Amino acid sequence: MAKFRRIGVLTSGGDAPGMNAAVRAVTRTAIQCGVEVMGIYEGYKGLIYENMKLFSNRDVSNIINIGGTLLYSDRCLEFKTEEGMQKAIETCRKNQIDGIVAIGGDGTFRGATDLTARGIPTIGIPGTIDNDITSTDYSIGFDTAMNTVIEMVDRLRDTCESHARCNVVEVMGRNAGYIALETGIAVGASAIVTREIPFDEAKAIQKIKESKASGKRNFIVIVAEGVPDFAEGFAKRIQEETGIETKFARLAHVVRGGNPSLRDRLTASRMGEAAVKLLLDGKSNLIVRERDSKICTIDITLGQMIDRMYKGTLKDHDLDNYSEAEIEEMKAFCKMRADEFAELYNTADVISH
Ligand code: F6P
Repeated sequence: MAKFRRIGVLTSGGDAPGMNAAVRAVTRTAIQCGVEVMGIYEGYKGLIYENMKLFSNRDVSNIINIGGTLLYSDRCLEFKTEEGMQKAIETCRKNQIDGIVAIGGDGTFRGATDLTARGIPTIGIPGTIDNDITSTDYSIGFDTAMNTVIEMVDRLRDTCESHARCNVVEVMGRNAGYIALETGIAVGASAIVTREIPFDEAKAIQKIKESKASGKRNFIVIVAEGVPDFAEGFAKRIQEETGIETKFARLAHVVRGGNPSLRDRLTASRMGEAAVKLLLDGKSNLIVRERDSKICTIDITLGQMIDRMYKGTLKDHDLDNYSEAEIEEMKAFCKMRADEFAELYNTADVISH
Protein backbone atom coordinates (compact mmCIF):
# COMPACT_ATOMS: atom_id res chain seq x y z
CA MET A 1 0.00 0.00 0.00
CA ALA A 2 1.29 3.46 -0.95
CA LYS A 3 2.35 5.56 2.03
CA PHE A 4 0.51 8.85 2.03
CA ARG A 5 1.73 11.79 4.07
CA ARG A 6 -0.53 14.40 2.64
CA ILE A 7 -3.29 14.61 0.03
CA GLY A 8 -4.78 17.60 -1.75
CA VAL A 9 -8.42 18.37 -2.38
CA LEU A 10 -9.73 20.77 -5.01
CA THR A 11 -12.95 21.80 -6.72
CA SER A 12 -12.89 22.67 -10.40
CA GLY A 13 -15.29 23.69 -13.18
CA GLY A 14 -18.74 25.09 -12.43
CA ASP A 15 -19.43 25.10 -8.71
CA ALA A 16 -22.23 22.93 -7.35
CA PRO A 17 -24.09 22.88 -4.04
CA GLY A 18 -22.65 20.04 -1.98
CA MET A 19 -19.06 20.55 -3.04
CA ASN A 20 -18.32 21.90 0.43
CA ALA A 21 -19.82 18.80 2.01
CA ALA A 22 -17.48 16.71 -0.15
CA VAL A 23 -14.44 18.79 0.82
CA ARG A 24 -15.41 18.39 4.45
CA ALA A 25 -15.78 14.62 4.12
CA VAL A 26 -12.45 14.29 2.28
CA THR A 27 -10.68 16.37 4.93
CA ARG A 28 -12.16 14.62 7.93
CA THR A 29 -11.69 11.13 6.49
CA ALA A 30 -8.04 11.76 5.65
CA ILE A 31 -7.25 13.29 9.03
CA GLN A 32 -9.00 10.37 10.69
CA CYS A 33 -6.67 8.07 8.74
CA GLY A 34 -3.61 10.00 9.90
CA VAL A 35 -3.07 11.80 6.59
CA GLU A 36 -2.73 15.57 6.23
CA VAL A 37 -4.95 17.52 3.86
CA MET A 38 -4.04 20.48 1.72
CA GLY A 39 -7.00 22.53 0.54
CA ILE A 40 -6.11 23.75 -2.95
CA TYR A 41 -7.81 26.99 -4.01
CA GLU A 42 -9.33 27.80 -7.41
CA GLY A 43 -9.10 24.30 -8.81
CA TYR A 44 -6.06 23.33 -10.87
CA LYS A 45 -4.99 26.97 -10.97
CA GLY A 46 -4.18 26.72 -7.26
CA LEU A 47 -1.85 23.84 -8.04
CA ILE A 48 -0.02 25.89 -10.65
CA TYR A 49 0.30 28.99 -8.46
CA GLU A 50 0.70 27.20 -5.14
CA ASN A 51 -2.44 28.69 -3.65
CA MET A 52 -3.23 26.28 -0.84
CA LYS A 53 -3.65 25.81 2.87
CA LEU A 54 -3.14 22.91 5.26
CA PHE A 55 -6.60 22.06 6.61
CA SER A 56 -7.55 20.96 10.10
CA ASN A 57 -10.93 19.51 11.01
CA ARG A 58 -11.95 23.00 12.10
CA ASP A 59 -11.18 24.53 8.69
CA VAL A 60 -14.08 22.56 7.29
CA SER A 61 -16.50 23.24 10.15
CA ASN A 62 -19.85 24.84 9.33
CA ILE A 63 -19.60 24.34 5.59
CA ILE A 64 -21.70 21.21 5.05
CA ASN A 65 -24.76 23.45 4.73
CA ILE A 66 -23.24 26.14 2.49
CA GLY A 67 -23.53 26.38 -1.31
CA GLY A 68 -20.71 27.28 -3.69
CA THR A 69 -17.24 26.08 -2.77
CA LEU A 70 -15.02 27.44 -0.03
CA LEU A 71 -12.08 26.28 -2.12
CA TYR A 72 -13.32 28.48 -4.99
CA SER A 73 -13.32 27.16 -8.52
CA ASP A 74 -11.88 27.86 -11.94
CA ARG A 75 -11.90 26.52 -15.46
CA CYS A 76 -8.12 26.61 -15.82
CA LEU A 77 -6.86 26.71 -19.42
CA GLU A 78 -3.21 26.90 -18.35
CA PHE A 79 -3.49 23.49 -16.73
CA LYS A 80 -4.14 22.04 -20.17
CA THR A 81 -0.66 23.11 -21.34
CA GLU A 82 2.39 20.95 -20.66
CA GLU A 83 4.05 23.90 -18.91
CA GLY A 84 1.07 24.42 -16.60
CA MET A 85 0.95 20.71 -15.89
CA GLN A 86 4.65 20.62 -15.01
CA LYS A 87 4.21 23.54 -12.60
CA ALA A 88 1.34 21.67 -10.95
CA ILE A 89 3.44 18.53 -10.54
CA GLU A 90 6.28 20.63 -9.14
CA THR A 91 3.86 22.13 -6.56
CA CYS A 92 2.74 18.67 -5.52
CA ARG A 93 6.32 17.46 -5.05
CA LYS A 94 7.36 20.59 -3.18
CA ASN A 95 4.36 20.42 -0.83
CA GLN A 96 4.52 16.66 -0.34
CA ILE A 97 1.11 16.14 -1.90
CA ASP A 98 1.06 12.41 -2.65
CA GLY A 99 -2.44 12.22 -4.10
CA ILE A 100 -5.39 14.39 -5.00
CA VAL A 101 -9.16 14.27 -4.77
CA ALA A 102 -10.63 16.41 -7.56
CA ILE A 103 -14.30 17.36 -7.38
CA GLY A 104 -16.01 18.55 -10.57
CA GLY A 105 -17.25 17.53 -14.01
CA ASP A 106 -15.69 15.97 -17.09
CA GLY A 107 -13.07 18.74 -17.50
CA THR A 108 -11.98 18.05 -13.94
CA PHE A 109 -11.63 14.34 -14.69
CA ARG A 110 -9.45 15.04 -17.72
CA GLY A 111 -7.11 16.93 -15.38
CA ALA A 112 -7.22 14.06 -12.90
CA THR A 113 -6.09 11.60 -15.58
CA ASP A 114 -3.23 13.91 -16.59
CA LEU A 115 -2.05 14.16 -12.97
CA THR A 116 -2.25 10.40 -12.46
CA ALA A 117 -0.27 9.82 -15.66
CA ARG A 118 2.48 12.06 -14.28
CA GLY A 119 2.74 10.27 -10.98
CA ILE A 120 0.20 12.03 -8.74
CA PRO A 121 -2.60 9.52 -8.12
CA THR A 122 -5.92 11.26 -8.43
CA ILE A 123 -9.51 10.28 -7.72
CA GLY A 124 -12.46 12.21 -9.16
CA ILE A 125 -15.78 12.97 -7.49
CA PRO A 126 -18.65 14.02 -9.77
CA GLY A 127 -19.82 17.51 -8.84
CA THR A 128 -21.96 19.34 -11.37
CA ILE A 129 -25.55 20.49 -11.33
CA ASP A 130 -25.94 19.18 -14.90
CA ASN A 131 -25.80 15.48 -13.90
CA ASP A 132 -24.25 14.95 -17.31
CA ILE A 133 -21.51 12.49 -16.37
CA THR A 134 -22.80 9.41 -18.12
CA SER A 135 -21.07 6.80 -15.97
CA THR A 136 -22.70 7.91 -12.72
CA ASP A 137 -26.39 7.94 -11.92
CA TYR A 138 -25.89 11.08 -9.89
CA SER A 139 -23.58 14.04 -9.55
CA ILE A 140 -23.39 16.34 -6.54
CA GLY A 141 -25.48 19.50 -6.91
CA PHE A 142 -28.16 18.13 -9.24
CA ASP A 143 -30.84 17.75 -6.57
CA THR A 144 -30.33 21.19 -5.04
CA ALA A 145 -30.31 22.85 -8.46
CA MET A 146 -33.55 21.11 -9.38
CA ASN A 147 -35.18 22.08 -6.11
CA THR A 148 -34.25 25.69 -6.83
CA VAL A 149 -35.77 25.41 -10.31
CA ILE A 150 -39.04 24.06 -8.97
CA GLU A 151 -39.19 26.75 -6.30
CA MET A 152 -38.73 29.46 -8.94
CA VAL A 153 -41.17 27.89 -11.38
CA ASP A 154 -43.82 27.35 -8.72
CA ARG A 155 -43.67 31.11 -8.18
CA LEU A 156 -44.03 31.76 -11.89
CA ARG A 157 -46.99 29.42 -11.97
CA ASP A 158 -48.76 31.45 -9.26
CA THR A 159 -48.63 34.56 -11.34
CA CYS A 160 -49.40 32.69 -14.57
CA GLU A 161 -52.54 31.30 -12.95
CA SER A 162 -53.65 34.75 -11.82
CA HIS A 163 -53.19 36.26 -15.28
CA ALA A 164 -53.94 33.23 -17.47
CA ARG A 165 -50.45 33.29 -18.94
CA CYS A 166 -47.77 30.95 -20.14
CA ASN A 167 -44.14 31.09 -19.04
CA VAL A 168 -41.33 29.55 -21.02
CA VAL A 169 -38.44 28.88 -18.64
CA GLU A 170 -34.92 28.09 -19.79
CA VAL A 171 -32.85 26.08 -17.34
CA MET A 172 -29.15 25.28 -17.18
CA GLY A 173 -27.64 21.87 -17.90
CA ARG A 174 -25.08 22.66 -20.60
CA ASN A 175 -25.85 20.18 -23.43
CA ALA A 176 -27.78 17.80 -21.20
CA GLY A 177 -31.51 17.91 -20.55
CA TYR A 178 -31.65 16.17 -17.18
CA ILE A 179 -32.49 19.30 -15.19
CA ALA A 180 -35.15 20.27 -17.73
CA LEU A 181 -36.65 16.79 -17.86
CA GLU A 182 -36.92 16.11 -14.14
CA THR A 183 -38.00 19.61 -13.14
CA GLY A 184 -40.41 19.66 -16.06
CA ILE A 185 -42.18 16.66 -14.59
CA ALA A 186 -42.05 18.09 -11.08
CA VAL A 187 -43.63 21.41 -12.05
CA GLY A 188 -46.23 19.82 -14.31
CA ALA A 189 -44.88 21.46 -17.45
CA SER A 190 -47.07 21.56 -20.54
CA ALA A 191 -43.99 20.85 -22.65
CA ILE A 192 -40.32 20.01 -22.13
CA VAL A 193 -37.69 20.74 -24.75
CA THR A 194 -34.30 19.01 -24.65
CA ARG A 195 -31.63 18.05 -27.15
CA GLU A 196 -32.04 14.37 -26.37
CA ILE A 197 -35.59 14.00 -27.66
CA PRO A 198 -36.87 15.44 -30.97
CA PHE A 199 -39.42 18.12 -30.18
CA ASP A 200 -42.72 18.31 -32.04
CA GLU A 201 -43.54 22.00 -31.74
CA ALA A 202 -46.85 21.83 -33.60
CA LYS A 203 -48.06 19.00 -31.34
CA ALA A 204 -47.03 20.90 -28.21
CA ILE A 205 -48.85 24.04 -29.32
CA GLN A 206 -51.94 22.02 -30.19
CA LYS A 207 -51.85 20.45 -26.73
CA ILE A 208 -51.62 23.88 -25.09
CA LYS A 209 -54.62 25.06 -27.12
CA GLU A 210 -56.63 22.01 -26.09
CA SER A 211 -55.73 22.45 -22.41
CA LYS A 212 -56.77 26.11 -22.62
CA ALA A 213 -60.07 25.07 -24.19
CA SER A 214 -60.66 22.66 -21.30
CA GLY A 215 -60.20 25.48 -18.76
CA LYS A 216 -56.48 25.43 -17.95
CA ARG A 217 -55.16 28.92 -17.09
CA ASN A 218 -51.44 28.54 -16.43
CA PHE A 219 -48.89 27.00 -18.74
CA ILE A 220 -45.26 26.24 -18.00
CA VAL A 221 -42.81 25.18 -20.68
CA ILE A 222 -39.31 24.11 -19.66
CA VAL A 223 -36.49 24.38 -22.16
CA ALA A 224 -32.97 23.06 -21.63
CA GLU A 225 -30.26 25.60 -22.42
CA GLY A 226 -28.65 22.92 -24.58
CA VAL A 227 -31.25 23.68 -27.24
CA PRO A 228 -29.65 26.83 -28.61
CA ASP A 229 -31.57 29.97 -29.58
CA PHE A 230 -34.92 28.35 -29.02
CA ALA A 231 -36.66 29.31 -25.78
CA GLU A 232 -37.30 33.01 -26.35
CA GLY A 233 -38.53 32.53 -29.91
CA PHE A 234 -40.75 29.65 -28.82
CA ALA A 235 -42.39 31.92 -26.22
CA LYS A 236 -43.28 34.37 -29.01
CA ARG A 237 -44.66 31.62 -31.22
CA ILE A 238 -46.81 30.21 -28.39
CA GLN A 239 -48.32 33.65 -27.87
CA GLU A 240 -48.95 34.17 -31.58
CA GLU A 241 -50.48 30.78 -32.16
CA THR A 242 -52.51 30.25 -28.98
CA GLY A 243 -53.39 33.80 -28.02
CA ILE A 244 -52.05 33.12 -24.51
CA GLU A 245 -49.83 35.91 -23.24
CA THR A 246 -46.43 34.26 -22.89
CA LYS A 247 -43.40 35.41 -20.90
CA PHE A 248 -39.85 34.15 -21.07
CA ALA A 249 -37.50 33.60 -18.13
CA ARG A 250 -33.91 32.36 -18.06
CA LEU A 251 -33.04 31.10 -14.58
CA ALA A 252 -29.31 30.86 -15.36
CA HIS A 253 -26.81 30.86 -12.49
CA VAL A 254 -29.36 31.43 -9.74
CA VAL A 255 -29.86 27.68 -9.94
CA ARG A 256 -26.23 26.95 -9.14
CA GLY A 257 -26.22 28.60 -5.72
CA GLY A 258 -27.96 27.93 -2.44
CA ASN A 259 -27.74 25.57 0.48
CA PRO A 260 -27.31 21.95 -0.56
CA SER A 261 -30.25 19.57 -0.13
CA LEU A 262 -30.07 16.47 2.04
CA ARG A 263 -29.48 14.37 -1.08
CA ASP A 264 -26.44 16.45 -2.03
CA ARG A 265 -24.98 16.61 1.48
CA LEU A 266 -25.38 12.88 1.92
CA THR A 267 -24.01 11.87 -1.47
CA ALA A 268 -21.10 14.30 -1.14
CA SER A 269 -20.26 12.92 2.30
CA ARG A 270 -20.34 9.31 1.09
CA MET A 271 -18.33 10.05 -2.02
CA GLY A 272 -15.78 12.14 -0.13
CA GLU A 273 -15.11 9.36 2.34
CA ALA A 274 -14.91 6.76 -0.44
CA ALA A 275 -12.47 8.84 -2.50
CA VAL A 276 -9.96 9.13 0.35
CA LYS A 277 -10.19 5.46 1.24
CA LEU A 278 -9.56 4.50 -2.39
CA LEU A 279 -6.57 6.80 -2.62
CA LEU A 280 -5.07 5.49 0.60
CA ASP A 281 -5.71 1.99 -0.65
CA GLY A 282 -3.36 2.67 -3.56
CA LYS A 283 -6.08 3.26 -6.19
CA SER A 284 -6.02 6.07 -8.73
CA ASN A 285 -7.61 7.38 -11.91
CA LEU A 286 -11.06 6.42 -10.70
CA ILE A 287 -14.35 8.25 -10.63
CA VAL A 288 -16.35 7.64 -7.48
CA ARG A 289 -19.83 7.12 -8.81
CA GLU A 290 -23.33 6.13 -7.81
CA ARG A 291 -25.02 3.16 -9.46
CA ASP A 292 -28.36 1.88 -8.24
CA SER A 293 -27.94 3.82 -4.97
CA LYS A 294 -24.54 2.24 -4.24
CA ILE A 295 -21.25 4.14 -4.16
CA CYS A 296 -18.78 2.39 -6.45
CA THR A 297 -16.12 3.33 -9.00
CA ILE A 298 -15.21 3.33 -12.66
CA ASP A 299 -11.88 3.98 -14.35
CA ILE A 300 -11.81 7.65 -15.39
CA THR A 301 -10.67 6.91 -18.93
CA LEU A 302 -13.36 4.28 -19.43
CA GLY A 303 -15.89 6.70 -17.93
CA GLN A 304 -14.77 9.36 -20.40
CA MET A 305 -15.14 7.01 -23.34
CA ILE A 306 -18.66 6.05 -22.27
CA ASP A 307 -19.41 9.74 -21.88
CA ARG A 308 -18.14 10.53 -25.37
CA MET A 309 -20.00 7.58 -26.82
CA TYR A 310 -23.24 8.76 -25.22
CA LYS A 311 -22.70 12.36 -26.32
CA GLY A 312 -21.57 11.36 -29.82
CA THR A 313 -18.16 12.99 -29.39
CA LEU A 314 -15.85 9.98 -29.72
CA LYS A 315 -12.58 10.75 -31.48
CA ASP A 316 -10.64 8.54 -33.90
CA HIS A 317 -8.79 5.77 -32.05
CA ASP A 318 -10.63 6.46 -28.75
CA LEU A 319 -11.78 2.84 -28.65
CA ASP A 320 -8.60 1.25 -29.99
CA ASN A 321 -7.64 -0.16 -26.60
CA TYR A 322 -10.99 -1.77 -25.91
CA SER A 323 -12.09 -5.24 -26.97
CA GLU A 324 -15.24 -5.90 -29.00
CA ALA A 325 -16.93 -7.20 -25.87
CA GLU A 326 -15.99 -4.09 -23.89
CA ILE A 327 -17.27 -1.82 -26.66
CA GLU A 328 -20.55 -3.74 -26.74
CA GLU A 329 -20.85 -3.28 -22.98
CA MET A 330 -20.23 0.45 -23.34
CA LYS A 331 -22.87 0.67 -26.07
CA ALA A 332 -25.35 -1.19 -23.89
CA PHE A 333 -24.68 1.24 -21.04
CA CYS A 334 -25.29 4.23 -23.31
CA LYS A 335 -28.46 2.66 -24.63
CA MET A 336 -29.67 2.14 -21.07
CA ARG A 337 -29.07 5.85 -20.33
CA ALA A 338 -30.89 6.91 -23.50
CA ASP A 339 -33.78 4.57 -22.68
CA GLU A 340 -34.02 5.93 -19.14
CA PHE A 341 -34.25 9.44 -20.54
CA ALA A 342 -36.83 8.52 -23.16
CA GLU A 343 -38.94 6.68 -20.59
CA LEU A 344 -39.06 9.69 -18.28
CA TYR A 345 -39.78 11.98 -21.22
CA ASN A 346 -42.68 9.77 -22.12
CA THR A 347 -44.01 9.99 -18.56
CA ALA A 348 -43.83 13.77 -18.81
CA ASP A 349 -45.71 13.68 -22.09
CA VAL A 350 -48.49 11.41 -20.82
CA ILE A 351 -49.28 13.54 -17.78
CA SER A 352 -49.00 16.97 -19.35
CA HIS A 353 -52.53 17.50 -20.65
O1 F6P B 1 -21.73 22.94 -15.77
C1 F6P B 1 -22.47 23.75 -14.95
C2 F6P B 1 -23.01 24.93 -15.68
O2 F6P B 1 -23.74 25.75 -14.79
C3 F6P B 1 -23.86 24.62 -16.92
O3 F6P B 1 -25.17 24.27 -16.57
C4 F6P B 1 -23.75 25.89 -17.70
O4 F6P B 1 -23.94 25.65 -19.08
C5 F6P B 1 -22.35 26.33 -17.40
O5 F6P B 1 -21.95 25.68 -16.22
C6 F6P B 1 -22.19 27.81 -17.23
O6 F6P B 1 -20.85 28.09 -17.08
P1 F6P B 1 -20.27 29.45 -16.51
O7 F6P B 1 -20.39 29.41 -15.03
O8 F6P B 1 -18.85 29.44 -16.94
O9 F6P B 1 -21.09 30.56 -17.08
